[in-house]
Amino acid sequence: MTLREYLLPEGDTRIIIVIGKGGVGKTTLSAAIATAISSRGYRTHIISLDPAHNLGDVLEEELSSTPKEISNNLYASELDLEDLVKKYLRNLGDSLKAMYRYLTVLNLDKYFDILASSPGIEEYATLDALMEIVKARSSWDVIVLDTPPTGLTLRVLGLPKISLIWTEKLIGLRRAILERREAIRRIRGDEESSQEEYKIPVKEEEDPVMQELKKYYEDISYLYNFLTNLQKTTVVCVMNPDRLSFFETKRAKDFLTRFGLSLRLIVINKVLRESCITDELRGVLALQREILHEVKEEFQGLDIMTIHHTNDEPRGLNALKALGMRILGE
Ligand SMILES: Nc1ncnc2c1ncn2[C@@H]1O[C@H](COP(=O)(O)OP(=O)(O)OP(=O)(O)O)[C@@H](O)[C@H]1O
Ligand SMILES: [Mg+2]
Repeated sequence: MTLREYLLPEGDTRIIIVIGKGGVGKTTLSAAIATAISSRGYRTHIISLDPAHNLGDVLEEELSSTPKEISNNLYASELDLEDLVKKYLRNLGDSLKAMYRYLTVLNLDKYFDILASSPGIEEYATLDALMEIVKARSSWDVIVLDTPPTGLTLRVLGLPKISLIWTEKLIGLRRAILERREAIRRIRGDEESSQEEYKIPVKEEEDPVMQELKKYYEDISYLYNFLTNLQKTTVVCVMNPDRLSFFETKRAKDFLTRFGLSLRLIVINKVLRESCITDELRGVLALQREILHEVKEEFQGLDIMTIHHTNDEPRGLNALKALGMRILGE
């Protein structure tokens, strides 16, 4: 077995994003990967982005949003989605107030309760958290992200490209507004408008809205470039040898490709050993054989590996390290 170099850092910090359908073993295998990598001497931080946290159960440690040292070089944390949403809305409110000072008569705060439960807010809040993780990555050699089941994760991973497209459109619109303002200013002259209490910005460099849009565009481009760079980001998809998680893996791969990311490794987890199959499980074994064959056909060119169903639930550092070493290829 060759060492999976793409799970180790190459100069910059490596971010490993572990995705997959509900219950396939994402948390277990991301903890296993993080444990094995940390045991090679890399400073590793595993972060759970799943609101239904169970990373602590797998590592047998009480976790919070502050990184906790689990063993030498291994740190773990669980982000609180509710806190992330609150923080996201607070930042949004602050920048809205700064940009539209003449709107302070509006009490924005009363809208935040409604906004907090609006569709898409969790995705944007998670995207913000991801942006912070990427910006503050330098304390770690490797960051492993344990994610919620495919849907939410893919929507978040698709956001950078989508946001780039609409921010570009908004910048264009804002530019058109500023040009109209400039035209009006030329007709009215500066004198009149300077008497107004709030001077409406005309030039791009004076306009806080344009500055905010440009800054957002820059931040999102930075994140997009990081996530789409194979030397920095590795996406691993976990599946089980069953048809539903196979379908979901295919969809995930197509989605990622559409949004500029690529899948590097597929781990087929909880594969039953042929030798321990009883009569009742013959059907399961036949399906498993079919799926293993179809996965190889479908995902040619990708790295595919299998992990056997263990007797016990893999928990605790020893079990995780053994599993992780296999995934690393050692
Ligand atoms: N190789 C394995 N052998 C035996 N049990 C396993 C294996 N991998 C995972 N499990 C068990 O499968 C269950 C689900 O695992 P885990 O919580 O890691 O999945 P998940 O994909 O993170 O789930 P969720 O989508 O709910 O976050 C757990 O009970 C775990 O111990
Ligand atoms: Mg999980």
